[in-house]
Amino acid sequence: MTDELDPRPEDLKQRVWESIQRDELPPRDDRGRMRLVMNNLVLHLHPSKVAKPTLKFTYTWGLGGLALLLVMLLAVTGVMLMFVYTPSPDTAYQDMLNLQTQVWFGQLIRNLHHWSGNLLVIVAFLHLLRVFFTGGFRTPREFNWILGVILLLLVVGANFTGYLLPWDQLAYWAVTVGSSLLSYIPFIGEGVRNFLIGGPEVSAATLTNFYGLHVAIIPLMLMGIISFHIWRVRKDTLTIPHTLDGKVDGSDSDQVEKVTTLPHLVSREIAFALVMTGAILLWSLWVNAPLEAAANPDQSPNPAKAAWYFMGLQELLLHFHPVFGAIIIPALGLGALAVLPYQRFDLSAEGVWFRSRKGRQMAVVGAVTALIGVPLLVLLDEYVLDLQGMLPSLPTIISNGWIPLAALLLLLIGYYDGMKRVFKATACETRQSLFVLLVIAFVVLTIIGVAFRGESMALMLPWEVL
Ligand code: HEM
Repeated sequence: MTDELDPRPEDLKQRVWESIQRDELPPRDDRGRMRLVMNNLVLHLHPSKVAKPTLKFTYTWGLGGLALLLVMLLAVTGVMLMFVYTPSPDTAYQDMLNLQTQVWFGQLIRNLHHWSGNLLVIVAFLHLLRVFFTGGFRTPREFNWILGVILLLLVVGANFTGYLLPWDQLAYWAVTVGSSLLSYIPFIGEGVRNFLIGGPEVSAATLTNFYGLHVAIIPLMLMGIISFHIWRVRKDTLTIPHTLDGKVDGSDSDQVEKVTTLPHLVSREIAFALVMTGAILLWSLWVNAPLEAAANPDQSPNPAKAAWYFMGLQELLLHFHPVFGAIIIPALGLGALAVLPYQRFDLSAEGVWFRSRKGRQMAVVGAVTALIGVPLLVLLDEYVLDLQGMLPSLPTIISNGWIPLAALLLLLIGYYDGMKRVFKATACETRQSLFVLLVIAFVVLTIIGVAFRGESMALMLPWEVL
């Protein structure tokens, strides 16, 4: 073997540098050195060049980046909160009070953590919608979509486990209601619930379990999957925005202009992150995170509501047999989300907001149908329809489960078929219209649960609820 074939540089210093940095020894002047280091750090996350049209803010709305920023804000403020918080029923609530009065900027840190966590649920959901409506989940990005769905579930899980930690009435009863949804899983439900909350009811053991999940297990899973998710975005590159006429957005030709990541993308990211951090800071200075009286297991509030992001499910429970409201319908929804990217997709629609002109019209029809249909169905079920009373000989799982579910599925199939015929649309456009209908239906159910349900979960106007 000869040394001539060895491409390594002679100079030992340079060799060591290259082994660490995977690049040439940086120039001696500071600017050049900094630029090189920055370049490599940044280029770990981004490709060296990006397609210019993807920089357009109204394509991604910065939602993926904002989700990442919120996760980082949550990690920093979360670690700070850990310095003053002990997860025990004897101390947890007092720690919250101390944050308000004894700890410098304690209330602000808690507010930042609370609002960032809630905002993250909304931002991750909006990011999912952005990706769906621009066809960003198609080959080769199907699996990244699945990773996204897992991330959304983890974000909700992180919020839910954090909800209990202040140990006030709101926390105690929201977690009691939320965790009770689990017990409706056939056969194993009660066991799963007991395992999660450490016994038959919310107690000191629940606080220990939720604390471990909230500060260690879920954040570690989030970090791992976010890294995977963003690595895939870097490798797959972002979809290119196109106009309705099939042209690359902002260009007259089909040629996609490329620009260097530094400074074009990174400067935008930094500006956006600064503006959003400022906005969240201002909001947190202004609005305090809620804190009610200390938890009292003997005094259930009326109504006892779950956290707002579970109110759509709690509303479903009022209309369906619990196994359907808490398990079967959400499982069908999640299953549908998981198989979505593997459906046939019109490739010319990739990067086009709402697929096509027809796609946009059909999306509006889906939204209007849900906005009118869901409140009507809720009113019908609340005041007119009594399936259990009408079919007393049937077990409730049939009269209040299988029958209304079958009726609903028939309505949805009818909608799909009708829309496809009336608009002479593709499967891709029709599926999108159905997706809009279902998403808006879920949002409307959540709003009804949060704002229109008062004492004993009866329907009320929002000002009566308050
Ligand atoms: C903690 C939550 C999440 C973080 C931090 C995150 C982060 C990101 C970032 C930074 C991007 C690139 C920029 C952008 O599109 O805005 C991206 C793209 C993407 N995300 Fe997420 N994401 C999250 C959740 C989700 C969810 C819930 C989904 C869908 C179920 C999803 C699916 C995707 C897909 C498929 C892309 C590529 C889109 C394209 O090429 O147009 N992500 N994500």
